[in-house]
Amino acid sequence: MLTDAAVTPAWVWADLRTDHAGEAGAVCIYKGVLRFARDPALRVFAQHHLATEKKHLRLIEAWLPSVHHSRLLPLWRLAGFLTGALPALFGPRAVYATIEAVETFVDHHYEQQVFALASQPRAAVSLIRHI
Ligand SMILES: [Fe+2]
Repeated sequence: MLTDAAVTPAWVWADLRTDHAGEAGAVCIYKGVLRFARDPALRVFAQHHLATEKKHLRLIEAWLPSVHHSRLLPLWRLAGFLTGALPALFGPRAVYATIEAVETFVDHHYEQQVFALASQPRAAVSLIRHI
């Protein structure tokens, strides 16, 4: 668990808070899909990705102190659920298009964090010591 706030810059905690909120929301996206999806292939897809997102959430919760979790987690969970549930009402194509848009955003988000950490090695080292 990360505990050395004196060494880890505030912007890193902020980034990790968004990462945690994103993973919590991702879990709810697939719960939302599974609430309304009837297509068997889509349900298998959603169940597989729900398991993956639960794993991501467990990993980040294992080392991010709860004091750094977003106070808006209930809102992010609701937003995630609706992001999955609403397209599921329209069918697989709507769900897959939504997931593609979400994952494109997530890739860009994590890429920006990697670049930020790469440009500030002391911040990266402070994280690596805790992982
Ligand atoms: Fe994830």
